[in-house]
Amino acid sequence: MEKLKIGIVGNGGISGCHVTGYQAIPDRAEIYALCDINRDRAMALASRLGIPAERVFTDVHEMVKLKELDAVDVCTWNNGHAECTIAALNAGKHVLCEKPMAINAKQAKEMQDAAEKNGKHLQIGFVRRFGNDMEVLKNIEKDGFFGDIYYAKVNYTRRNGCPGGWFSDSSRSGGGPLIDLGVHVIDFSRYLMGNHKPVSVYGITFDKLKNRPDIRKAGGYFSSDASSSEIYDVEDLAVGLIRFDNGSVISIDAAFSLNQAGDKGDMEFFGTKGGAKITGTVDLFSSMSGYMTNTQLAYPTAFDFVGSFNAEIKHFVDCITVPGTKCIAPAEDGVVLMKILDGLYESSRTGHEVILD
Ligand SMILES: NC(=O)c1ccc[n+]([C@@H]2O[C@H](COP(=O)([O-])OP(=O)(O)OC[C@H]3O[C@@H](n4cnc5c(N)ncnc54)[C@H](O)[C@@H]3O)[C@@H](O)[C@H]2O)c1
Repeated sequence: MEKLKIGIVGNGGISGCHVTGYQAIPDRAEIYALCDINRDRAMALASRLGIPAERVFTDVHEMVKLKELDAVDVCTWNNGHAECTIAALNAGKHVLCEKPMAINAKQAKEMQDAAEKNGKHLQIGFVRRFGNDMEVLKNIEKDGFFGDIYYAKVNYTRRNGCPGGWFSDSSRSGGGPLIDLGVHVIDFSRYLMGNHKPVSVYGITFDKLKNRPDIRKAGGYFSSDASSSEIYDVEDLAVGLIRFDNGSVISIDAAFSLNQAGDKGDMEFFGTKGGAKITGTVDLFSSMSGYMTNTQLAYPTAFDFVGSFNAEIKHFVDCITVPGTKCIAPAEDGVVLMKILDGLYESSRTGHEVILD
């Protein structure tokens, strides 16, 4: 079989992980074209990958005219996801689009519709679905370890971790830590809990600390376009409750800036038979012969960042080239996630619960 020819649009930070993913399967895919509104950035990547200048673009609409191109990988700021994805789908290309799917559910639905209309594969970059921790949790869930998971408490909060640049400019990001970080853990938990339909949400956002310009950053959270004079018009903390049609609930905290001990990324799952806490390792809680038990697996469960991206990219290529492959990160789940996020932001604005359709 011919190698898939991929065009990557958005050649900044995360595109590097996608490049590594394609390079891990050199007999099945090649990066054929690049596109970034910042031509210097695209040219730098092109020279590293040996891609000729005639296949480097600054306008996605031009790149997708390349007949040889099979698929487009969208790694732009969030506000470019819908435009780039729809342009590629309408040009007959398959698409992998980074998370969040778009900046709102309306755009996300238009992307799903474009995929269906053109009969092309659209996969969303829910990379946490491809982690080794998810693999373990899905397997034990299938085997009944949890019973029914009725509550999840998920947290993705940083002490001083606003990357700045486009991340804090709502016109390019669509929101703050909820849409950037929260999306990962909400999707992780919804997927593990069985992808139930969300029926209502209650959310509150704050912007008390913003990007903390007065505090020196200790960590490495810098957007590639961060500058000293930038817009900050997104939340710095979002909290929310999401209720599903089977009665289960997810509680979410997502923050760029919060006066806490450090950065956290904890997820806890509570089932009728067992529970789990994912902190970096997976800890399991249940009972045996009338005694409470705590279990750690003698198996690697720490989230493998590179391995997860490689698995996500391989799955994208499999979905396009291996007949019968069922996509595990489909557009419809991206649309549902965007409805949840829209609802949480709306609830925060109105002060009321939002009922989802
Ligand atoms: N899956 C993950 O864990 C993960 C991690 C980081 C970022 N992301 C997502 O990846 C995307 C990119 O994030 P990043 O950190 O790489 O940002 P970045 O700023 O480093 O790179 C984005 C690039 O896209 C370019 N760009 C923006 N709009 C464009 C358009 N319409 N056409 C062509 N180029 C365009 C910018 O010039 C920039 O070079 C975001 O949607 C982000 O949410 C996902």
